[in-house]
Amino acid sequence: MVRVIVGTQWGDEAKGRAIQLLGKNADVVARYNGGANAGHTIYLQGEKLIFHLVPSGIIYPYTICIIGNGVALDPEQLISEINTLKSKGIEFGKRLFLSDKAHLVMPYHKITDDKDNIIETTKRGIGPCYEDKYARRGIRVADLLYPKIFKEKLSLNLKKYPSLNLNEVYEKYIGFGKFLAPFVADTSRLLNQFIDDGKEVLLEGAHGFLLDIDHGTYPFVTSSNPQAGSACTGLGIGPTKIDEVIGVMKSYTSRVGKGPLPTRLSPELEEKVREKGEEYGATTGRPRRCGWLDAYLVGKAIKSNDIKKIIITKLDVLSSLSEIKICKEYKYQNVPSIFSIPELISKFEPVYETLPGWRTEISHITKYSNLPKETKNYVERISELLNVKIIAICVGPEKENTIYL
Ligand code: IMP
Repeated sequence: MVRVIVGTQWGDEAKGRAIQLLGKNADVVARYNGGANAGHTIYLQGEKLIFHLVPSGIIYPYTICIIGNGVALDPEQLISEINTLKSKGIEFGKRLFLSDKAHLVMPYHKITDDKDNIIETTKRGIGPCYEDKYARRGIRVADLLYPKIFKEKLSLNLKKYPSLNLNEVYEKYIGFGKFLAPFVADTSRLLNQFIDDGKEVLLEGAHGFLLDIDHGTYPFVTSSNPQAGSACTGLGIGPTKIDEVIGVMKSYTSRVGKGPLPTRLSPELEEKVREKGEEYGATTGRPRRCGWLDAYLVGKAIKSNDIKKIIITKLDVLSSLSEIKICKEYKYQNVPSIFSIPELISKFEPVYETLPGWRTEISHITKYSNLPKETKNYVERISELLNVKIIAICVGPEKENTIYL
């Protein structure tokens, strides 16, 4: 069985939780897009772990993890994550594989990333790394294994950055190459072999659908495709290998960086939700803007990714609210789609449905039937509006705080 996990909002849907839930039965977890601009937070025996590049499946001792060719790879970050995880007792053995074709984030990418703060990126060099990839001057993981070729490519690229010293960057990256060499593989061949052998495979998309460079709120997006189809190009497998796409949806909306968020909460409610939901960027620590659940935009993600099942996360965060709104649609005119001119989205009027809140803690509840009737009402309305099956609801940060349906 091959499943893709996709975030249905602007990232930070707690996809790490979803991988943690589904990953315990997975033989392989593979990441197909983005880079260290993404952050997965996992709570493991009460300890908070943040991953940026290593697929979160690594917490399971027998799960094989793959970082695909579609990832923009910052080698320094990856090495630091590997070392941190090792120090927490996580064994790597021969179970982390890194695509030889993944493009490297170089020091000059970080210097040039969103210099004028137009998008408010994470400044991890991701956009400029993909720019070089598509301009066909990128440097890839395999180049690190061939010092002469690496030096030639590096010196060509560094011509534009006289402040950077060729030998310094060269030595540093050759050192990274030596560390990473045992992990480098033809991951497309490996993954296809695992799939042909009937392994349970999870393909993990970073960020969220509304940040997709093609389908999201362009230009306020990331530089890769979180969309499920990108799992094929970002890992080198055929589309017919994918059995299903599972969406992850937070019970409300959040957004970090610039770009429209039409369902944004009033300042008092936003503060309440941000504090309870710990809505601060896992990568940058920036406070996230928070909004009501936007079922209209999530609906776009459901359609464009062919999502049939979703996992709802952080439902407990809404517990203290007396009423809860869902945006069902927008009043907008004269544009082919809401994404045509995202700069106009904030001018479109959301149409809300208001439901009563449950005003009681739900984190301890493990059976759906034991949830307050208002909570069930909210969940069932979401399922109805989106026409999807809800397979799990997260009601707290630990993996025990989960209700399976
Ligand atoms: P970049 O991906 O660093 O280029 O940033 C582009 C936009 O995407 C910025 O608004 C970021 O805040 C946002 N972004 C990128 N990755 C994530 C993520 O994993 N969660 C939430 N927002 C993200």
